[in-house]
Amino acid sequence: MPKVALITGIRGQDGAYLAKLLLEKGYEVYGADRRSGEGGFWRLKELGIEKDVKIVYMDLLEFTNIFRTIEKIKPDEIYNLAAQSFVAASFEQPILTSDINSLGTLRLLEVIRTVKPDTKFYQASTSEMFGKAKTLPLNEESYFYPRSPYAVSKLFAHWITVNYREAYNIFACSGILFNHESPLRGTEFVTRKISLAVARIKYGKQDKLVVGNLDAKRDWGYAPEYVYGMYLMLQNDKPDDFVLATGEAHSVREFIEEAFRVAGFEIYWEGRGLEEKGRDAKTGKVLVEVSPEFYRPAEVDVLLGDYSKAKRILGWEPKTAFKELVRIMVEEDLRRVRDGKV
Ligand code: NAP
Ligand code: GDD
Repeated sequence: MPKVALITGIRGQDGAYLAKLLLEKGYEVYGADRRSGEGGFWRLKELGIEKDVKIVYMDLLEFTNIFRTIEKIKPDEIYNLAAQSFVAASFEQPILTSDINSLGTLRLLEVIRTVKPDTKFYQASTSEMFGKAKTLPLNEESYFYPRSPYAVSKLFAHWITVNYREAYNIFACSGILFNHESPLRGTEFVTRKISLAVARIKYGKQDKLVVGNLDAKRDWGYAPEYVYGMYLMLQNDKPDDFVLATGEAHSVREFIEEAFRVAGFEIYWEGRGLEEKGRDAKTGKVLVEVSPEFYRPAEVDVLLGDYSKAKRILGWEPKTAFKELVRIMVEEDLRRVRDGKV
């Protein structure tokens, strides 16, 4: 009998990569979809697995819906990847964000406790929980200081996962993942916003890229490697919490410079703050501008992770370094824009 996995957030970046991995490992994969209708299953299509994943309708906002789905499927493993995952939007929709991210996770755990307590559970926790970090690099023992409604909502979900593990002996793991990107990343996130803009600028379909804080630093890794880490956590002897990261931090500015370089441009910077501009070294044309629209009410200046526990216990390690990640993303968007496939 194949193992049965239920992935919430199947339409998202991680949902698609994880589904592919679990299918390759022989799992029967159910993908929970809330029927938002936006964009269809384009990521599953890109990976060629849209016919292999069994789609079930499930919204983390509705308890009875979750109850019936889990009762019917009886999954061996649940990966809770569904979330209102965009930090900026969480300042505009803090209550919805908390309902989905915090209570949604609790709803799932309550159903597991009631219906099938031997289900293994993975919670998609985040480096955003560290927020205004006092010391770097960050590991499983570091202090949490969330800086957005999103981060606060995920901190609730993290601790309720730990609590259900300790109180009810549920095999529940919290993966504290640092930013991970790919060509399947949503275009609202800064890396994909950059790679797509660079490709569109290259093909004359866009004049410039407009961003917010150029100096924010993130520990950016490659998403397919991170979903493998999620899988490993649920195969471990005992449930635990793990940081997945690369151990390197780079700024938004560096990402932009490298992305343009991949497309054959060299950027130089002029001015400061909101007046700062990135110009094409050959023509002097402005290719990058800054707008307050993309600043956040409270920022996370730098995130840098220490993945040594995951390496020691799970044997997990990142493989794709920063420049390679940027290359993968920009080259794919160049191809898509050239072929009219965005
Ligand atoms: P993503 O692309 O934004 O995908 C999130 C998915 O959640 C979307 O498909 C969305 O559905 C679904 N969703 C939202 N609200 C829902 C609801 N009420 N009920 C059911 N599904 C709902 O996110 P991702 O980058 O794959 O990340 C996966 C998870 O890891 C998220 O929980 C995120 O917060 C967390 N995380 C991500 C990173 C990262 O760098 N990518 C790092 C740390 C943690 P629609 O398609 O219908 O909108
Ligand atoms: N999105 C966006 N757009 N971010 C910008 C922009 C812009 O135009 N300009 C600068 N930034 C800065 C943000 O202020 C932030 O400091 C950084 O770029 C990264 O922003 P995002 O790519 O939106 O990601 P995030 O770090 O806020 O959140 C992502 O990673 C988390 C893990 O640390 C999301 O995937 C979260 O769901 C995830 O938990």
